[in-house]
Amino acid sequence: MKIWLDGGLRDAGAARVSALDHGLTVGDGVFETVQVAHGRPFALTRHLDRLTRSARGLGLPGPDHDEVRRACAAVVDANPVPLGRLRITFTGGPGPLGSDRGEQGTTLLVALAESTRRPDSTAVITVPWTRNERGALAGLKTTSYAENVVALARAREQGASEALFANTAGRLCEGTGSNVFVVLDGEIHTPPVSSGCLAGITRALAVEWTGARETDLPLDVLERAEEVFLTSSLRDIQAVHRVDGRELPGAPGPVTAKAMRVFDERSGADLDP
Ligand SMILES: Cc1ncc(COP(=O)(O)O)c(C=O)c1O
Repeated sequence: MKIWLDGGLRDAGAARVSALDHGLTVGDGVFETVQVAHGRPFALTRHLDRLTRSARGLGLPGPDHDEVRRACAAVVDANPVPLGRLRITFTGGPGPLGSDRGEQGTTLLVALAESTRRPDSTAVITVPWTRNERGALAGLKTTSYAENVVALARAREQGASEALFANTAGRLCEGTGSNVFVVLDGEIHTPPVSSGCLAGITRALAVEWTGARETDLPLDVLERAEEVFLTSSLRDIQAVHRVDGRELPGAPGPVTAKAMRVFDERSGADLDP
């Protein structure tokens, strides 16, 4: 496996970042996860734009898009896989041991892992921890992801593949690595970005392509929604067949199945929508 680090391709096993990298010591970094199918990254322009927004949100300089594109192309070419997770990580670089940032420059790392197609439906749980819609990191895709690690481990313990959070006001927010949609009276709704969720790229495309509405929703909407689905770069649209103890038999239901079809058609027709 070859990865991109410090301006060139390296063997993954031999590549090294500084032990004092601020991404490692304090989680001072941002990232993107991009789906790659048969050597082609999906929606790369949107991912690069969000990477820049996240970096600026942390006060980091915006990454050089030409360099990141070159790095992605080199890594994808060097590691041919039918389906892959392309991961772009951009950190504050070597720094002091505390929260002050260093001045030696940023770190850019691009790596790829082979992936498998997700099942059409999955189980999710809700967790008692909250997303902070008023926090400094709200809406930024930062490498400070340990809350997601904890919540996803809880989901796995309970036989689920995703954990859903409410925000501090008890409103439905998002999953550890996905956005959430519900069907109410046949209409599709998803929480607005003001709920504190990430502005998911798959979410934005699903809203555009299905006409889903952005609606502030209570967490307990999950107890009565006719259908529930998740979106993310690696899931695309994935139906939910169980939320905590509640079964949603027949998932994907008709509205979700139609959304999945539309998403497949539109994403198949344009690699960089
Ligand atoms: C917290 C969080 N929410 C939502 C998403 C979905 O975003 P996207 O569709 O851009 O992959 C992700 C992506 O991994 C995420 O980490």
